[in-house]
Amino acid sequence: MWTTGKVIERIDWNDKLFSLRIAADVEPFIAGQFIKLSEVRDDKRVARAYSVVNPPGKDYVEVLAVTVDDGQLSPALHQLNKGDEIQVSKKAAGFMVLEELPKEHTAKHLWFLATGTAVGPFLSIMETDEPWERYEKVVLVYGVREEVDLAYLEQIEAFKEKYPDQFQLIVSVTRESVNGTISERIPDAIINGGLEKHAGFKLTEKDSQVVICGNPGMITGAQQALYDKGLIKNLRRAPGNITVEKYW
Ligand SMILES: Cc1cc2nc3c(=O)[nH]c(=O)nc-3n(C[C@H](O)[C@H](O)[C@H](O)COP(=O)(O)OP(=O)(O)OC[C@H]3O[C@@H](n4cnc5c(N)ncnc54)[C@H](O)[C@@H]3O)c2cc1C
Ligand SMILES: NC(=O)c1ccc[n+]([C@@H]2O[C@H](COP(=O)([O-])OP(=O)(O)OC[C@H]3O[C@@H](n4cnc5c(N)ncnc54)[C@H](OP(=O)(O)O)[C@@H]3O)[C@@H](O)[C@H]2O)c1
Repeated sequence: MWTTGKVIERIDWNDKLFSLRIAADVEPFIAGQFIKLSEVRDDKRVARAYSVVNPPGKDYVEVLAVTVDDGQLSPALHQLNKGDEIQVSKKAAGFMVLEELPKEHTAKHLWFLATGTAVGPFLSIMETDEPWERYEKVVLVYGVREEVDLAYLEQIEAFKEKYPDQFQLIVSVTRESVNGTISERIPDAIINGGLEKHAGFKLTEKDSQVVICGNPGMITGAQQALYDKGLIKNLRRAPGNITVEKYW
């Protein structure tokens, strides 16, 4: 189940937020899935899930992580440098993948709502052709506390250049005022119409698929705000509009 991976690249976005690119012999995965990283200490295994940021088809997995004060694994990951080893699950897992979204539901607009490190799996998905082939518009809503918490901005800006008529980026920075961003939390920006105003179209049951990932409080709030607009959860037996993955 486990393979030994080697860190081949490390990016520090700020003093807590970092990416590790890990060369590892993992089985093919689907964009949007997560792998597990793990260490064995005193015969006890500590393993945690991390979404893959890169698209499938590479010989490495890249993860975006934040070190949680007093966390069991993330501070150890934060200590890893180029050349260091870490255990990686051979298989990826997770259902936050486009093939799980209803095909029969003719949604025109795909909305990705992310806080913090949860932008990662959406980057993996957006690096594939599928969202651009299936949806007229793809909106990434990326919520962070402060501007320094934003990661992969260059890569995100490149989607604007590659898909100028299709891609929209809405950044929410909640603890300081930053030009070109909104300052409300994501659920509030759904409730007050801010997201729709920025996107230029409505979040409707008929046209929208919404995938939400990250902070569980944000997910609960965003889901409720969407329920209030008539959107419903996607279930395998009953297709709807909303798919979620909570990080804790
Ligand atoms: C499906 C899935 C995918 C995930 N993908 C990622 C990822 O791509 N990047 C990532 O950093 N984490 C991700 N996580 C969270 C990750 O698995 C760990 O929980 C996290 O790194 C903390 O582990 P720890 O052992 O250091 O902390 P623990 O001792 O397990 O403490 C957990 C606490 O840390 C906080 N926390 C956990 N994750 C985060 C986070 N991402 N941002 C802010 N606070 C957090 C919460 O308060 C949580 O209760 C994912 C979780 C799941 C379930
Ligand atoms: N000590 C530090 O200086 C420091 C700094 C950064 C990160 N960290 C550590 O890193 C971890 C992750 O921080 P993070 O900034 O990536 O994640 P975060 O706390 O999940 O914040 C990301 C975004 O989600 C919003 N949010 C949080 N709770 C919400 C809720 N219930 N409903 C709607 N929106 C909500 C935040 O808004 P608000 O700003 O309004 O909360 C922020 O815009 C923290 O748990 C902490 O351990 C520490």
